[in-house]
Amino acid sequence: MEKMVDYEKLFDGVYLGKKVLITGHNGFKGSWLSVWLSKMGAQVYGYSLKNESLHHLELLEFDGHQQLGDIRNQAQLNAFFAEVQPDIVFHLAAQALVRYSYENPVETFSTNVMGTLHVFEACRITPSVKAIVNVTSDKCYDNREWIWGYRENDPMGGYDPYSASKGCSELLTAAYRNSFFNTKNYNQNHQVLLASGRAGNVIGGGDWADDRLIPDIVRATAQSHAVKIRNPRATRPWQHVLEPLSGYLMLGMKLLQSEVKDAEGWNFGPDLSSNLAVEDIISLSKKHWPQIEIEFEKDKSLHHEANLLMLDCSKANKILKWQPVWNIEKTMEKTILWYRDFYLSNKVNTLSDIEEFVNEANRKELVWAT
Ligand SMILES: NC(=O)c1ccc[n+]([C@@H]2O[C@H](COP(=O)([O-])OP(=O)(O)OC[C@H]3O[C@@H](n4cnc5c(N)ncnc54)[C@H](O)[C@@H]3O)[C@@H](O)[C@H]2O)c1
Repeated sequence: MEKMVDYEKLFDGVYLGKKVLITGHNGFKGSWLSVWLSKMGAQVYGYSLKNESLHHLELLEFDGHQQLGDIRNQAQLNAFFAEVQPDIVFHLAAQALVRYSYENPVETFSTNVMGTLHVFEACRITPSVKAIVNVTSDKCYDNREWIWGYRENDPMGGYDPYSASKGCSELLTAAYRNSFFNTKNYNQNHQVLLASGRAGNVIGGGDWADDRLIPDIVRATAQSHAVKIRNPRATRPWQHVLEPLSGYLMLGMKLLQSEVKDAEGWNFGPDLSSNLAVEDIISLSKKHWPQIEIEFEKDKSLHHEANLLMLDCSKANKILKWQPVWNIEKTMEKTILWYRDFYLSNKVNTLSDIEEFVNEANRKELVWAT
């Protein structure tokens, strides 16, 4: 018989009773994080713009505290921080789409750079805050399109506005850590540890963003349409949304436990075998929803799109003992079945996916799950 998961004991039990402020809580990653933290006994306080698309948290009838607000508005953000007095902040709010960033560069930079600055400022003036995890991206690196994975000490960069904004968010993180949350002065003139998490292409149920591969595929299939695919050879580090979240939660745990040396940047990517081309992802999808139909079309936009991008996660593997839980086959199975069950049977598998993920991590004796 499957052992019952004791959620409150996960991650050394650090989240039980903690006040956790999540920016971007109603987005794809934020919604999974909010639900998982609530199950672990955290008090979740979300701060996001209104979500105009189908809303994962609403489907889950999430009852945590939620505030609609804009991270570009410093006064509003400060007021929310003052009201909540969080112990830890996970900063996920962002304009997160590459193609949209070409059409809306100012919105992208103002949200991802100035918005991040405002979040750090709100943290700086709120004495309850002890830990901050800034969620950036694998795209923060200067992408040379080479076959090796990027390591945490590779240079920041970014060809398109989104990627550059994430490189800037990393520079901002380093500047705030050096200037205000310096680990050398920890517990002397401040008590804040700041780290960042860089993950790859994340998939899983509950994402309805425009212009992302899996949402595009499942939306079209649910309407019995073929989905148009532009760049079948583009290779990405695909991972289930719960994988980077387990990394961010581990990082948050270390910071709350005053592990000063872990206040750095960390890659949380899949095993190399999960670095697959779009066309391989489509073949795996069809195994679980045979009605998926694809049409390849030439990319007529003049926008540059990266072809190859991989992360080297040796640092997180070795130092944090963080490991992915599911391989790419399992990841695709859980992802496609989530949407198929939702569209065909009106079922929402989020909680059972979290449970299966945690049980598998426990079987694998991953440090956060035992
Ligand atoms: N999804 C991926 O594959 C992926 C990969 C790497 C990194 N990331 C990063 O992870 C984080 C979360 O991504 P996601 O996939 O959940 O994105 P998402 O687009 O699903 O959600 C974005 C969230 O940010 C909020 N938001 C946007 N602008 C805001 C503003 N001005 N003020 C307040 N809230 C605002 C939205 O309301 C939403 O809650 C982002 O920082 C993103 O760049 C995502």
